Amino acid sequence: MFQKAQRLQQLPPYLFKEIDRLRDEVRRQGKDIIDLGVGDPDQPTFANIVTELRRAAQDPATHRYPAYSGLSTFRQEAARWYKERFQVSLEPLSEVVTLIGSKEGLAHFPLAFVNPGEVVLVPDPAYPVYSAAAVMAGGIPVKMPLRRDNNFLPDLQAIPAEALKKAKMLVINYPNNPTAAVAEKDFYAAVVEFALRHKLIVVSDAAYTEIAYDGYRPLSFMEIDGAKEVGIEFHSLSKTFNMTGWRLGFAVGNAELVAGLGQVKSQIDSGAFDAVQLAGIAALKYSAPEVKRMCALYQERRDVLVAGLQAAGLDVTPPKASFYVWAPCPPGYSSSQFTMKLLTEIGVVSTPGSGFGQAGEGYVRFALTVDKRRLREAVKRLRSLEL
Ligand SMILES: Cc1ncc(COP(=O)(O)O)c(C=O)c1O
Repeated sequence: MFQKAQRLQQLPPYLFKEIDRLRDEVRRQGKDIIDLGVGDPDQPTFANIVTELRRAAQDPATHRYPAYSGLSTFRQEAARWYKERFQVSLEPLSEVVTLIGSKEGLAHFPLAFVNPGEVVLVPDPAYPVYSAAAVMAGGIPVKMPLRRDNNFLPDLQAIPAEALKKAKMLVINYPNNPTAAVAEKDFYAAVVEFALRHKLIVVSDAAYTEIAYDGYRPLSFMEIDGAKEVGIEFHSLSKTFNMTGWRLGFAVGNAELVAGLGQVKSQIDSGAFDAVQLAGIAALKYSAPEVKRMCALYQERRDVLVAGLQAAGLDVTPPKASFYVWAPCPPGYSSSQFTMKLLTEIGVVSTPGSGFGQAGEGYVRFALTVDKRRLREAVKRLRSLEL
């Protein structure tokens, strides 16, 4: 009866909603499902964070509307943490804004800076929110393919001149979802130089910087000289502290960009629950040992899955960071054919690379969010397949 707005008609159904539907269908048929689909940590939030939420929630001072840009104490802690972790100095009140999860911030940010018809350069494959956010703002997402032969980094020189002329913003995400690739200083320095030359805003999505293996320490884009002139970085507490359900993140960087996002948010939402932000302070302040333990756990899982995939004949590179394994499909299979085979024949849920964009075709993504015992079972089932 009601016709949806064109902006919604332009967007495909949200990828994971569709995968959940297929998974539930197969589960109803009685199959034992091992879900390596969505990247949602299976471990609980660290105990000290829950304790702090309980304490904070009992204080009536937290029950009122939060400040739009977030508690100053949370923003100060985010700034302290950035300094400790990345040696990046931030002015807490003008260069940090609290978010209701980083997805919220990423989705709202283009509303502050993108006019209808302007181009947003987005990676392909990618977390779907960057393109959706561009479309919601009336912008045009233009894809930058991430290819294995370029270490899943976009080739900035290959961006079509026409698109570049209309481009306002460029999105990068390392450690990357879905490819698990990482970026080093030389790439980030090239992005700063490119952004200055073409007057682009750089959006860096840093949701996975804390999940890393073998002693590797991912960089923040903000560590690079000139980054704060051109960029804003989105950080999430979701993956680092097993807090996906809590909805807490923050954005840091150029004060004008942070203020623009804050202005949009003040028109649309009323901020994150103060008690959740207080618990977020505890997370950022005290969780380093727990985060290390989680990384060790994911690393063991990575080793089980990567070895299993390699034994099944798939040419998989062990990731240095993120909790994903990005695997090329066996010869003769498209992403969705291979995902469907895994689901229907052995009850293993993965995500088709093509769901993250055309350039993801030929790959599937596995999330390391089930325990080792179940991963071993998944591997056993995989090896039983004729590939
Ligand atoms: C690359 C990337 N960025 C951002 C997010 C959003 O995280 P949150 O909104 O929970 O902070 C996700 C979640 O899966 C992600 O994979």
